Amino acid sequence: FFVSFAWLVLGYLAGSFPTAYLIALRLRGIDIRTYGSGNVGATNLGRLMGKKWAFLVAIVDMLKGGVAVLMIRLFGASDVTVAMAAFAAVMGHNYPIWLDFKGGKGVSTTYGTLFFVAPPGSMIAVPLGGLVWLIILKIGGYVSLASILSLFGLAFILPLCGVPAPFALSAFGLAVLSTWRHRANVKRLLSGRESRARSK
Ligand code: G3P
Repeated sequence: FFVSFAWLVLGYLAGSFPTAYLIALRLRGIDIRTYGSGNVGATNLGRLMGKKWAFLVAIVDMLKGGVAVLMIRLFGASDVTVAMAAFAAVMGHNYPIWLDFKGGKGVSTTYGTLFFVAPPGSMIAVPLGGLVWLIILKIGGYVSLASILSLFGLAFILPLCGVPAPFALSAFGLAVLSTWRHRANVKRLLSGRESRARSK
């Protein structure tokens, strides 16, 4: 039990690394939480610093969760522990202890952690989920809508790719969690006030 608990704490701490916050602060002297949507994530950093930086943050945010989950798996943790550690990593991103628990919406970190949960199936499912994200973004023009819908899509794609149930369940929980974190976006989407993704 204590070992599993330690893995969850490790997952949380890995996820809590505030990539977008640190880059905005170090390179622009701006607290990203006071800029744009106020979100500590790739999309909002893109508003401040452009697409390349958004891409970098997305990659780092994917890796921080992904590498942690991969390590935990390599150390022989059970499927359930790995699934919970994936959830913990995203909780770390969304509610980082370093930023008064005000973090991001967990999209990149969810994709990154789920990529490594159960190879090879998860490594096929996650890029497919990414494709769904891209298609919805192209059609709708809203990053938030693409993020929410593709995360639910991913929860369905994972078991189709042969990924065991605990991970599909974790993915579903992560989609619900991210929807909760997007609640302001959802309100704006419903009232037509959500800002569209612009190329920068
Ligand atoms: O990844 C978060 C994205 O879905 C929405 O971000 O900054 O537009 O609230 P933002």
